[in-house]
Amino acid sequence: MSRYSRIAGTGGYLPETVRTNYDIAKMVDTTNEWILERTGIFSRHIAAAHETASSMAEIASLQAIAESGRNAEDIDLIVLATSSPDRVFPSTACLLQQRLNIRNCASFDVQAACSGFIFALSVADQYIRAGNAKRVLVVGSEINSRLVDWTDRTTCILFGDGAGAVLLEVSDEPGVMSTHISSDGRYRDLLYLPSAPREKSCCGVGERYIKMQGNDVFKIAVNTLGKIVDETLAANHLEKSDIDWLVPHQANIRIITATAKKLKMPMDRVVCTIETQGNTSSASVPLAFNQAVRDGRIQRGQTVLMEAFGGGFAWGSALVRY
Ligand code: UT7
Repeated sequence: MSRYSRIAGTGGYLPETVRTNYDIAKMVDTTNEWILERTGIFSRHIAAAHETASSMAEIASLQAIAESGRNAEDIDLIVLATSSPDRVFPSTACLLQQRLNIRNCASFDVQAACSGFIFALSVADQYIRAGNAKRVLVVGSEINSRLVDWTDRTTCILFGDGAGAVLLEVSDEPGVMSTHISSDGRYRDLLYLPSAPREKSCCGVGERYIKMQGNDVFKIAVNTLGKIVDETLAANHLEKSDIDWLVPHQANIRIITATAKKLKMPMDRVVCTIETQGNTSSASVPLAFNQAVRDGRIQRGQTVLMEAFGGGFAWGSALVRY
């Protein structure tokens, strides 16, 4: 009998505080119109001082576990994607494990910037298929608001905070049909965070914030995502018309629209959260997926294409029968 993984439950969390474009226009030289037109973003959530990547991950994870009908102790692996960890070590996954009071399970972080959740899902899927895990908690959690320079209008307008989670479990039918991940370190200088968030004392001001050549990233993202959706369909012998939903990473509405066009998908089959969440990095795909499952758009049995692109560059896709 073949062994696959399937998504048994989903969860999400967004911090209470909302920062609109009008709020940002009071901080840097920008306008609501510029941000909305160039990015599709109107507002984003900002974590409170007491919140961390692990505290947000806990809320999203508890929802995913409850939704799946399982208990925390049924989980035998936690894979968490973040670029804004609570601590350099132990891993945020380990801190999440403690919060969930789970014992005797491995937990580790995956770091692939905005593509982190797709990478984490890919790792979790391999563990399950190989027979090394039965139930894996896969999480993306980010406090980007602590990684951006709030005086830099080219980056601070883009990012937001949040966490998304899925509980992946063993199944004799797919489930996760395929995952495809790639990276190319030649592009390391186009989008990066110079130092770990906790190393504030060892670097000068300006060294601890996200740096991005936005326009270059934009062009390569559009091209790469166009290619990866074709590769994903080909690997599964599927046509564009076989995809029910596109759940893209939410970096820029113009990147999302270009990918949808390439797939010949009308925008009402594309899950977009960017307007009210901005770019939540590794949390954006699971947050969007969770939202569309909860509001009844994505139904059991439907085919969903998830994709992401970000720093590294690192990019990936997952084709999922929900
Ligand atoms: O999730 C990881 C992957 N990240 C991405 O995929 C992000 C990809 N990049 C983008 O989304 C876009 O490149 C941005 C939204 C970041 C920028 O949009 P753009 O259309 O590429 O603008 P640009 O960088 O070419 O800048 C155009 C102009 C410049 O002024 P000049 O040189 O033409 O006078 C900028 O200085 O817009 C100016 N500008 C702004 N103006 C008002 C840049 N940021 C702002 C701003 N408000 N916030």
